[in-house]
Amino acid sequence: MATLFLLCSTISRLVRPKEPSQCQTLTDMFETARSYFYNRNYIESYRLFFYLEHTHALKSSSCAWYQIHCLIGLGHWNQAIKKCHDWVQLEPTVSQWYFICSEIYMNRLDFTLAWEELNKASAIIPAGDDAYQEICFKKRMTLEGKYLGILRKDILDFLPYDITLNIFNCLDLDSLSSQLELKTIYLYLNRAKRTGITKLSIRHQQVVDGDSVLMALANYDCCKLNTLVISDILCTPGLFFNVLEYIGSSLKKLQWGGVSIRLNDIIYNLPKISTQLTHLTVHDCFTSLHDVQLQTGALHRLEYFGETFPPPFLQSIQSLPKLNYIQYLKLESIHGLTACHLANVLVRCPALVKLSLIRCLVNIIPVFNILRITCPKLRYFEYERNRYCQQFDVFQHTEERRLANRAIVQQLGKQKNMMIKNEWVHVEIRLTNMLTDSMVQNILYLRDGLEVLDLSGNMLLSDIALTKQPLKALRILCLKECYGITFKGLECIIRQSPLLEEIDLSCLSVINNDILYALAKCARLRKVNFSYCKLSRVSSDAIKYFIDQRKETLQQCILDYTVYVSTDVLMYTIKNLKRGTI
Ligand SMILES: *[C@@H]1O[C@H](CO)[C@@H](O)[C@H](O)[C@H]1NC(C)=O
Repeated sequence: MATLFLLCSTISRLVRPKEPSQCQTLTDMFETARSYFYNRNYIESYRLFFYLEHTHALKSSSCAWYQIHCLIGLGHWNQAIKKCHDWVQLEPTVSQWYFICSEIYMNRLDFTLAWEELNKASAIIPAGDDAYQEICFKKRMTLEGKYLGILRKDILDFLPYDITLNIFNCLDLDSLSSQLELKTIYLYLNRAKRTGITKLSIRHQQVVDGDSVLMALANYDCCKLNTLVISDILCTPGLFFNVLEYIGSSLKKLQWGGVSIRLNDIIYNLPKISTQLTHLTVHDCFTSLHDVQLQTGALHRLEYFGETFPPPFLQSIQSLPKLNYIQYLKLESIHGLTACHLANVLVRCPALVKLSLIRCLVNIIPVFNILRITCPKLRYFEYERNRYCQQFDVFQHTEERRLANRAIVQQLGKQKNMMIKNEWVHVEIRLTNMLTDSMVQNILYLRDGLEVLDLSGNMLLSDIALTKQPLKALRILCLKECYGITFKGLECIIRQSPLLEEIDLSCLSVINNDILYALAKCARLRKVNFSYCKLSRVSSDAIKYFIDQRKETLQQCILDYTVYVSTDVLMYTIKNLKRGTI
C-alpha cells in the first residue's frame, strides 16, 4: 500500500504541469507553484507552497515536499533539513522525510548522519513492506560498505548506569516533566550553589510542599540570584517573605503567580526584600480586601474621566514608603483589584517606566485618572480589558454618563494641568469598549514621541481621535476592529505618519485604493495585516501598484481570509514578497 502510494505520488510529481492561464482556485495556485518548480523558479515556487501550506493547509505534506526541494535547489541545505525534521515530528511514521534528509547528507558527504537517517527510516517501515525495506537496506549497505569506517554511537551506550542517571539529574527543572520531588530540587540547587546561578524558575503545580521548596532555597544561599520566577506553589506567606528577604539582596526581577500570596502583601513587604528589584510581575492572585489603609478610599471607583480621590485618602497613600527602584510592573488577572488597590500600588512606584495591566477588573477610565497623579516617568503603557468589566460598561454607556465624561474632557482641555502628563512612547489599549476620541486626544495631545500605538477593538473611536495632529514618530499602528474609523480618517492617519513600519488593519471594511496609495508612500513599511478585511473598494491594480512600490521593504502583506481579493492578486503578492530568507 505504502509502495503504491509512493509510486503514485512520484508519478504525479513527474508529470510536468502547465501553468494555468488564470488562477481561480487554490488548486490552480498549487498547479502554478508546481510549474514554477519544474521550470526551476524555486523562489516563487517556494513562496507559493509556503503560503498554501501555512495559510490553507492545502495538501500540506506535498507542499512541504516541494518547499524542501526548492530549498535544496537554492542551496539552503540547513533549512531543508530543518523542514524535514519538522515533518518527522508531524508524521513520525512516514519514512520519506528521513530519506530526503539522508540524501541531503549524502550530497554533503556527511555519511554518518546520512546513515543515521536511514537507520531511523528502517525502524519505522513495517516489517511486511518488503520493497521499502529493501530500498532502505540497500542504501544502508552501500553507505556502510563504502564510506563508513567508524559509526557514530550513542554516547549513553558506553556509560555506566549511575553516570547516565546523574546526567539526567542535571537537566533543568523545566525539562523534568514528571512529578517534581524535593530530592530533585535539592540536587538542582546544590548545583546552582556551585555555579552561582542567576536565574531560577519554579513553575510547578506538582510541587506538593511549597514550604519545603522555600526552605531549600534558603538553605542553599543563592547569593547571586537576580531573577526568581515562582508560580503555582502552595506556601505560607510569612515563610515566603522571610526566605525572600534572606536570599533577595541581589534580586532584580521577581515574578509571582498563585493564590498563596496576595498582591498587597507583596507590595507591603517589598522594601524589606530587596532594594535592587527593578522588575515585578504578579499574576493570577488576590488582593487583600481588608487592607486597613484602603478602608477610607475603598468606595471610590473613579469611573468619571477627570475624577480624583478625596484628599485624605490620597494623603494616606502618598505617605506610604516608596518603592523607588521599581521600573517595570506587570499585573495580570489580579482578582478583586479596585481603583484604590491600584492607586495604592502605583503611587508607591514613582520611577515606573513600564506598566502592563492585563485583564484586571479596573476599567480604563479609573486607570487614566490614577495615572494623572502617579508615575510621571511612564513611557510604556499596556492595558487589556477583562471581559467581566462588562458589568460596569452597562453603567458606563448611559447617555448621562457619556455627556458627563465629555464635559469633563472639555474642561480638561482648558485646564492643561488636569491632563495626563506623559512622555509615552508605547501605548497599547485593547478592547476597552469605552475609550473615546477625547481620551485618545488627551493622551496624544502635543506628543511627538509616540512610536507604538495599538488601539485594537476600541469601537467607539472615530476619525477625530487620531487625525487632529500628526503622529510623526509612529512606527507601529494597530487599528484592528476599530470600526468607527472611516476611509478618510485612515488615509489621513497614514499620510501623517511617514515613518510607519507596521500597520494592522485587520477586520476593517473601509480600505480603498487611496489607502493603498498612501501606504505605498511609507518608505519603511515592513508589515501590513489585511486579514479578514472586506476589500471590495480596492482594485487589483492598486494592490499590485502597492506591492511594486514597497517590494524592497515589505516583508509581509497578510491577505488571509480577505473578501474580494482575486486569487490572481493574491499570487502576485505571494510571488513578490519574501518568506523568511527566500
Ligand atoms: C493578522 O491579523 C489577524 C486578525 O486580527 C491575526 O489573527 C493574525 O495573527 C495577524 N497576523 C500577523 C502575522 O500579525
